[in-house]
Amino acid sequence: MTDENIGQVQNKKIILSGIQPTGTITLGNYLGAVRNWQIMQEDFNSIFFIADLHALTVKREPAELRQCANSFFAQLLACGINPEKAILYFQSHVHQHAELQWILNCYTYVGEASRMTQFKDKSAKHSDNINMGLMDYPVLMAADVLLFQSDLVPVGIDQKQHLELTRDLAIRFNNRYGDTFKVPEPYIPTMGAKVCSLQDPTAKMSKSDPDENSRVSIIDDEATIVRRFKRAVTDSGNEICVREDKPGVSNLINIYAAIENKSAQDVEREFAGQGYGTFKIAVGEAVAAKFAPIREEYLRYLADKSYIAEVAKAGAEKAAYLAERTLRKVKKKVGLISF
Ligand code: TRP
Repeated sequence: MTDENIGQVQNKKIILSGIQPTGTITLGNYLGAVRNWQIMQEDFNSIFFIADLHALTVKREPAELRQCANSFFAQLLACGINPEKAILYFQSHVHQHAELQWILNCYTYVGEASRMTQFKDKSAKHSDNINMGLMDYPVLMAADVLLFQSDLVPVGIDQKQHLELTRDLAIRFNNRYGDTFKVPEPYIPTMGAKVCSLQDPTAKMSKSDPDENSRVSIIDDEATIVRRFKRAVTDSGNEICVREDKPGVSNLINIYAAIENKSAQDVEREFAGQGYGTFKIAVGEAVAAKFAPIREEYLRYLADKSYIAEVAKAGAEKAAYLAERTLRKVKKKVGLISF
């Protein structure tokens, strides 16, 4: 293998991001992450993976996890992640992730890991299963990023603290052993960065929210999408405008604007004088129209198990080739024997 034949271009920056396979890719994941990945793969050496090892930190049925991870792979392909342009794979297929995690563990303080906001939140939420993996989650994420000498890491705002830890670990390691890791920058997209729940517009739209009406997915059918938007919580009054005291309507305006590539002001103008009911249907129909071809592609990929296997295998081989380069260096630096 060479850098060229795995599609890595010398002077392009490296971006890397992962997504946990839970539920399905939501409108929030799409606008906040996956759509940007698809755009960024044109200009960057791009590495995207299904974070299936991270998914083990909460209890899952094996068959359900397997089905979900496979479905996520098909969903990313359907969203236009192109295996000719980006490296796409399952995290668990590249053993270097877990191996680097172990080494980084030995440079991570229990204090800093236990201070992570997400660890505290998840410990409260899964109080019957506060396992080591839950605390170690951000160190695995650091390994994901540092293995590939990533320049930029597109993440949601909720992952920013994990990126800070990643940077701290890279700097700590580099200070002790000399330049080894690229210190990555978080990349938090401003456009469509935060899509809120359709039922509680003060909370983020989440793929694990128990209330299905709180979200729509890229693979939902048109009727479901329109129905969920019809049921979306709005605010008092009847004006269609972005305002702090109108989180529900503001969320819908932002969604419509992001889907239609318009500004919020354009949307306000377009719907001036119309009622919430009409507006909610218009947003639902716009989202459904955007997702219809994605859903179709998804079903096509999902039916083609051997294609997914082939792409995933090739992706893992490319990722392992790049990851091994860093891992070899790290092992040598910390004093492990190599022949
Ligand atoms: N923890 C991330 C999330 O839940 C997913 C993830 C895992 C990730 N490893 C990563 C994101 C590395 C960016 C880089 O959103």
